[in-house]
Amino acid sequence: MTIYDLFMEPLEKTGLRRLRKKLIKKASGDVLEIGAGTGLNLPYYREEQVSSVVLMDRDLKSKALKKKSSNHKNLKLIFREENVMNLSFPDERFDTVVFTLVFCTVADVEKGLKEIRRVLKKDGKIIFIEHVRPESKALGRTFDTATPLWKKLAKGCHLNRKTMEQLRSSGFELKLEGKMMKNIFLGGTGKIKRTAQ
Ligand SMILES: C[S@@+](CC[C@H](N)C(=O)[O-])C[C@H]1O[C@@H](n2cnc3c(N)ncnc32)[C@H](O)[C@@H]1O
Repeated sequence: MTIYDLFMEPLEKTGLRRLRKKLIKKASGDVLEIGAGTGLNLPYYREEQVSSVVLMDRDLKSKALKKKSSNHKNLKLIFREENVMNLSFPDERFDTVVFTLVFCTVADVEKGLKEIRRVLKKDGKIIFIEHVRPESKALGRTFDTATPLWKKLAKGCHLNRKTMEQLRSSGFELKLEGKMMKNIFLGGTGKIKRTAQ
């Protein structure tokens, strides 16, 4: 288990693991997972409905990923080190694009989401879990205040991003299917809005 996995364990126990399981099992066809990290979503892909999974990260944790992937011999896994803001894949290459706890850190969210739209098939789906700025005014302000320090401690992670709004304004239609901790963690699926195609 990596330090990241240990750090995440309380959250995983509180409901994150259940949410991963519920959502990742919906991935099908050719899948791109952005910011795959240490591979915490890997156990939940269904081999019978997934053709391949490209596990991509700007800083590929090859050792952790390869260790976890050894339990999934029938899953075709491809490892790639790239940045979501500038993907090397052709247009409309993937049936599913997965990202969990990634857009809190991506430097230019709009650019990253535009790339996801480009590589996703027109009838493809996104699967996401993200933590976002709290709805409560007081907590929202607290998260704003804490973000500059937290960013330094947690590799650029923002506590106050409005990622759902950014997803919608980038042309995705969302179906929220899970939440945790007073809606700070939101998970769901989405597709490209017809008007945005
Ligand atoms: C908090 S971790 C989440 C890891 C994993 N998705 C999970 O759910 O546990 C964020 C991951 O996103 C990756 N990441 C951040 N910005 C990225 C970018 N611009 N392009 C690709 N990966 C990125 C980081 O390297 C890190 O592995």
